[in-house]
Amino acid sequence: MASDMQTVTRSEPATPRTAPMSAAKPRPAGGARWVVPAKVAVFIAALYPLARLVLFGLTDRLGSNPIEFITRSTGLWTLVFLCITLAVTPLRRLTGVAALVRFRRMLGLYTFFYATLHFTTYLWFDKWFDVAEIVKDIGKRPFITVGFAAFVLLIALAVTSPRAMVRKLGRRWQTLHRAIYVIGALAILHFWWMKAGKHDLLLPKIYGAVMIALLGWRLVVWIRERRTTTRRR
Ligand code: HEM
Repeated sequence: MASDMQTVTRSEPATPRTAPMSAAKPRPAGGARWVVPAKVAVFIAALYPLARLVLFGLTDRLGSNPIEFITRSTGLWTLVFLCITLAVTPLRRLTGVAALVRFRRMLGLYTFFYATLHFTTYLWFDKWFDVAEIVKDIGKRPFITVGFAAFVLLIALAVTSPRAMVRKLGRRWQTLHRAIYVIGALAILHFWWMKAGKHDLLLPKIYGAVMIALLGWRLVVWIRERRTTTRRR
């Protein structure tokens, strides 16, 4: 299966190794003139959640519990960016626009950026850097345990995202970056368990369905690839 921390970082070969899910044949990834301005636009647009929080903070619109507002907003945006990052490969295959791959690393790093803001809000404003209290919380509340596990995995993927690390780690890089699937599952579990306590599962169900579709798509591609390889042998 094509690794999907390709999803977060790696450049893919111009021609995919596997048969696309649709008839559309991806054009080569490099060279498209629209890519650079589009990347700048995506970079700026991805700053919207941060700009919104800063604006709300400056204009006293963070509600009666600003820490909860910031924690929830950054948590939700982390999940949104995770879904967008995971959607790049299916979109590339379905539309045939290979240049979409050039947005993946940036989107993956934005996922990490919002996860870091989310974790920092918890660490700083919720727990005031009380390490003993944080360790206790991670051990005691399952939704915090899985959120923390997802964040630790995201750190590993972000640290190994530069091209130099891709070269250095070789095949191990691909194996490591498959952790993106685990991160997707843990993120949904984190959201689900948090909202289950509040009997409010609508959003976790919607995001869960999106995640199942994104990961299920990869599973189908993987099964097809294996069948093709077996037949060739
Ligand atoms: C990939 C990593 C993570 C993702 C995708 C994520 C996502 C989310 C989401 C979607 C929410 C709910 C937002 C809402 O109510 O609309 C949330 C809430 C929360 N998350 Fe995370 N999270 C992650 C990691 C973490 C970590 C590492 C911690 C702390 C150790 C954490 C602590 C919390 C807390 C305290 C809340 C708010 C609970 C409440 O208001 O009752 N999350 N997160």
